[in-house]
Amino acid sequence: MGEKVRWGILATGGIAERFTTDLRTLDDAEVVAVASRSEAPAKAFAERFGIPRAYGEWAGLFADADVDVVYVATPHHAHRTAAGLALEAGKAVLCEKALTLNAREAAELVALARDRGLFLMEAMWMYCNPLIRRIAELVRDGAVGEVRTVQADFGLAGPFGADHRLRDPKTGGGALLDLGVYPVAFAQLLLGEPDSVQAHALLSPEGVDLNTGMLLGWSGTGRRPCSPARSPRTPR
Ligand SMILES: NC(=O)c1ccc[n+]([C@@H]2O[C@H](COP(=O)([O-])OP(=O)(O)OC[C@H]3O[C@@H](n4cnc5c(N)ncnc54)[C@H](OP(=O)(O)O)[C@@H]3O)[C@@H](O)[C@H]2O)c1
Repeated sequence: MGEKVRWGILATGGIAERFTTDLRTLDDAEVVAVASRSEAPAKAFAERFGIPRAYGEWAGLFADADVDVVYVATPHHAHRTAAGLALEAGKAVLCEKALTLNAREAAELVALARDRGLFLMEAMWMYCNPLIRRIAELVRDGAVGEVRTVQADFGLAGPFGADHRLRDPKTGGGALLDLGVYPVAFAQLLLGEPDSVQAHALLSPEGVDLNTGMLLGWSGTGRRPCSPARSPRTPR
């Protein structure tokens, strides 16, 4: 108790910068290392944020005995590998959304974390947002009656350049994995896991979804909310 959680940052892109900026405002967190796929960005990131150690390859971060938890901020397709390697190295993991490209990869990570007794969490910040937590609490307590319908939308305006990760199928681009996870997570928080899913997507020339509409179905009547959103536990 009272010790700081020591963080290692994996990847040096946009959200890694924002996350590290915020992390440095916490009293019980310390950023001790950063890793990139190459040396220059790692060093630049470390200098910018005053991080003691910079690694030009991921392995250095995983082998760093001072790192308690690895924050994975790569594009989607690399989450499974990065989080898996971190768990195998004995590190707790906070992984950006979407946790993985598909359910099979997510199940593999969950099994690995359980097997090693390690903390693993998708960075679904919405579940930690006080307003969302209060809504879930009110629904759970029946304050708003039986919830029959949840409508949720999330979009943002393009255009994105031809080399942007959102336009690249190989990096898990597209609307569903980047933004669609939020409305799905919100509906699931309030109603539980759906029994049926119908979806329709408009694809870009590259083959990623520009938008996806989903109709999730819950059989039977009666409200079946998920367990309450819980505060993430500290990894040690
Ligand atoms: N929670 C939120 O609010 C939020 C907001 C935005 C994004 N995100 C999530 O955060 C993740 C990163 O998004 P971003 O906007 O930060 O992307 P980004 O700016 O493109 O940065 C991604 C970083 O990952 C590394 N990278 C790039 N290509 C890679 C590859 N092929 N294999 C492995 N690593 C690669 C690069 O860092 P190095 O050069 O250092 O290796 C790059 O700077 C995504 O999963 C996204 O959904 C979350």
